[in-house]
Amino acid sequence: MRIVLFGKNGQLGWEFQRILPILGEVIALGRDELDVSDLRNVQKTLEELKPSLIINTSAYTEVDQAEIELELTMKINALSPGVMAEAARKHGAVFIHYSTDYVFDGTSDVPYTESNVPNPLNTYGKSKLMGEENIKQAGEAYLILRTSWVYSLRGNSFVNKVLGWARKNESLKIVSDQISSPTWARMLAGMTSLMLAQNNANLLEIIRERRGVYHVAGSGFTSRYEWAKQILANDPDRSEQVVRNLEPALSEDFPTPATRPPFSALDCTHFEETFGLQLPAWSSALKLAMVG
Ligand SMILES: NC(=O)c1ccc[n+]([C@@H]2O[C@H](COP(=O)([O-])OP(=O)(O)OC[C@H]3O[C@@H](n4cnc5c(N)ncnc54)[C@H](OP(=O)(O)O)[C@@H]3O)[C@@H](O)[C@H]2O)c1
Repeated sequence: MRIVLFGKNGQLGWEFQRILPILGEVIALGRDELDVSDLRNVQKTLEELKPSLIINTSAYTEVDQAEIELELTMKINALSPGVMAEAARKHGAVFIHYSTDYVFDGTSDVPYTESNVPNPLNTYGKSKLMGEENIKQAGEAYLILRTSWVYSLRGNSFVNKVLGWARKNESLKIVSDQISSPTWARMLAGMTSLMLAQNNANLLEIIRERRGVYHVAGSGFTSRYEWAKQILANDPDRSEQVVRNLEPALSEDFPTPATRPPFSALDCTHFEETFGLQLPAWSSALKLAMVG
């Protein structure tokens, strides 16, 4: 099977690059090889490469900056996924795309299911929701996998930020009024790949039948404050920490251009039941991610 992966240098894309060779020949594209905001080039590239599986992990993920770079955000998050879905349909390929918990407004107090009505609060969430709609209109054998609070131990993730802050500050304040499901990028790439491998023999047919939106995230939920506590507790180099006080704070103490939903945990039962897989608890995945 020939696989085209978009967004190879991102948190999730990097993990897919490691694992996808078990499924077939991988053509991994980063921004340098293909700018996904160049819609014509996306279409042309897919036409030339003729993959049987397209995985899109590219996205405009700077949630605050998206409020300013509206047009580019829309191209990358809303229009480009539609073009990919259409190309996949034309060439008989499966299309796997990722969306976000930020499509919800966060007024629920129980984890969101796929049947809850989205109501995004910021440009990023709106653009990702439009991307979902465009895929549904243009696509055929597609999965839209909504995930939340993605982290890796590479780059500028929340986990690495907390570890960095804890080495520079004696006191840290982290918001306790934002709650969701932390998701390890490696776990997400692994679970997606497992689902694809299990259905490999008849992938196009199965994904066509089961097409739609699924929630896939670390199991359970927590606040950013509690998450930070766990990050510090699992730090393999704890002796390097200088932090003495970790205090809960309110989002209003840290105003940002984009409003975040207060509660955006995802109920992943539909994915688990449909594909016969069990997603690990967010706290177990974090422990594994942080093993020095
Ligand atoms: N991060 C989260 O907390 C979170 C939460 C919910 C859902 N998601 C979704 O999960 C998916 C994966 O997220 P992630 O955390 O892996 O994101 P990420 O680390 O920010 O990676 C996104 C990748 O997209 C690439 N990209 C951006 N604009 C591009 C362009 N014009 N052309 C080509 N590539 C471009 C970036 O390239 P550069 O490396 O060159 O910048 C980056 O490698 C995305 O769909 C995201 O919306 C993420």
